[in-house]
Amino acid sequence: MYLISRWNKDLKISWFTTILLAAGLMAGLFGCGSDESEYTAGGTPHDFSGDIERGPQLALASTRSMTIAWRSLESTEPAVVYWSANGLPSTRTGDRPGTEHVIELDGLLPDTAYFYQLQHGARSVGEVHNFWTAADTPDAAIRFGVFGDFGCGCPAQYESIGVLKDSQPDLVLTTGDNVYYSGSAREVRQNYFIPMASLIDHVPVYPSLGNHDVITGNGSPFLDSLYLPVNDADGSERFYSFDRGNCHFIALEVTDRAGDLSPGSRQYQWLVRDLQRTAATWVVCYFHHPLYSDSSHGDAPLLQIHLAPLFDEYGVDVVLSGHDHTYQRTYPMRAGLVLDGQMEPNYTDPQGTIYVVTGGGGATLYGLWRSQRLAAGESRRHVVIFDVVGNELNLSAVDYNGSVFDRMKITKRVPGDGR
Ligand SMILES: [Fe+2]
Repeated sequence: MYLISRWNKDLKISWFTTILLAAGLMAGLFGCGSDESEYTAGGTPHDFSGDIERGPQLALASTRSMTIAWRSLESTEPAVVYWSANGLPSTRTGDRPGTEHVIELDGLLPDTAYFYQLQHGARSVGEVHNFWTAADTPDAAIRFGVFGDFGCGCPAQYESIGVLKDSQPDLVLTTGDNVYYSGSAREVRQNYFIPMASLIDHVPVYPSLGNHDVITGNGSPFLDSLYLPVNDADGSERFYSFDRGNCHFIALEVTDRAGDLSPGSRQYQWLVRDLQRTAATWVVCYFHHPLYSDSSHGDAPLLQIHLAPLFDEYGVDVVLSGHDHTYQRTYPMRAGLVLDGQMEPNYTDPQGTIYVVTGGGGATLYGLWRSQRLAAGESRRHVVIFDVVGNELNLSAVDYNGSVFDRMKITKRVPGDGR
């Protein structure tokens, strides 16, 4: 076993962690059902402080601003007190009393650590939290974590969150199924906000929607609880994009309930415009249903027909999906064919897109077979960590012991060339 070097000083395996790990393995053996008491057994449900019903969660992170959102049990006048290590505290007050609170802190310094605490009226509630603003240099190092199919409230979900926290990412993406079983309001709190509390208070998380998330109200309980980038002409948060450093991230809604993604569809047309506009060195697209999968749900031929030509044409570097509860990574692919396999696992200017399935974030694992296009695959619970520095992108698939069981590197000799 070896760890990513950045983690060595931070990863502490305590007896408590060992117990959680054992509980997680048991949950893996017997699966995660939909019963609330089963999901929370053996986990570490967050004890929200004071009058907080859920949150705080970070959102819409940028170089000079951060949005902080939370819900109080009773109607109150909200405020956030915040300060940097070298600065005096400032207070930002919400617009109106109520229970749903969203406060944007602006005028911040780039690449700077801040501390903050919530206030209800003049009373401080909860603990002191922190966050780090984004750097304003385009080639600044970025670390982002990815996981999917985790929203069960089960012990394995806590293990995934623990590995993500240990890796100290700048942001986290999800490949969907954030809220099992049906994305109801009760499940949003039980299976997202409680397990995620110790992550979302200091790391901005950018989910994509899975099929389970949208069973209730077409996903409205979950979407209504989030504050996501809005850059679709219709103001939808169901699909969106954002930049961080030299990376462009695109979240799509791809489930069996999302409608088709044929060229005439609204989401397809938005995606084309978004891909045309970006000049980022790295383009990462993420969504729930995979185009290619060597597991239970298998391939999605219509998605291949509609989306793969766009990923080919616009040089999308990495596509991340979930839904099949496994880890899978293809060789670079273009027009459905494997390219540049001889460079595995260190690619220089690959001429295709690498497709990753990361669906082992908490729910019961699926089996796996290995087709010729698969460079790596495991039926193992995990998260994926990406490190991007300039023209280099490194992928590490990490299990609950902190072991890196798959690595891949892409180097671009001409950054920003579209591939
Ligand atoms: Fe799914």
